[in-house]
Amino acid sequence: MPKIIFYKEKGTRTEIEVQPGQTLLEVAREHDIDIEGTCEGNLACATCHLIIDKDWFSKLPKATEDETDMLDLVNGLTVNSRLGCQIKVTDDLDGLIVFLPVAS
Ligand code: FES
Repeated sequence: MPKIIFYKEKGTRTEIEVQPGQTLLEVAREHDIDIEGTCEGNLACATCHLIIDKDWFSKLPKATEDETDMLDLVNGLTVNSRLGCQIKVTDDLDGLIVFLPVAS
């Protein structure tokens, strides 16, 4: 199973083995990683904002226009920002590194 590595505030690292097909939002919730995801993955809240490691960012499927529109609403947007509910884990993402945005 692919492993996803989450870095939380203050650099806390959590490595999780993930069932392919789950979204990063689902994975985070199952493992008590603090991502809100208010709209349950319906692309209507942007509270599942994550920052992808720069070396991994280009390996992800591109964001849709709808995701990009929602990202525009995010506080602390970065060039490597994505919405966790829109990224499905696949075997190709083994080792993916994801950062939780710093709360503002
Ligand atoms: S959970 Fe609302 S946009 Fe991702």
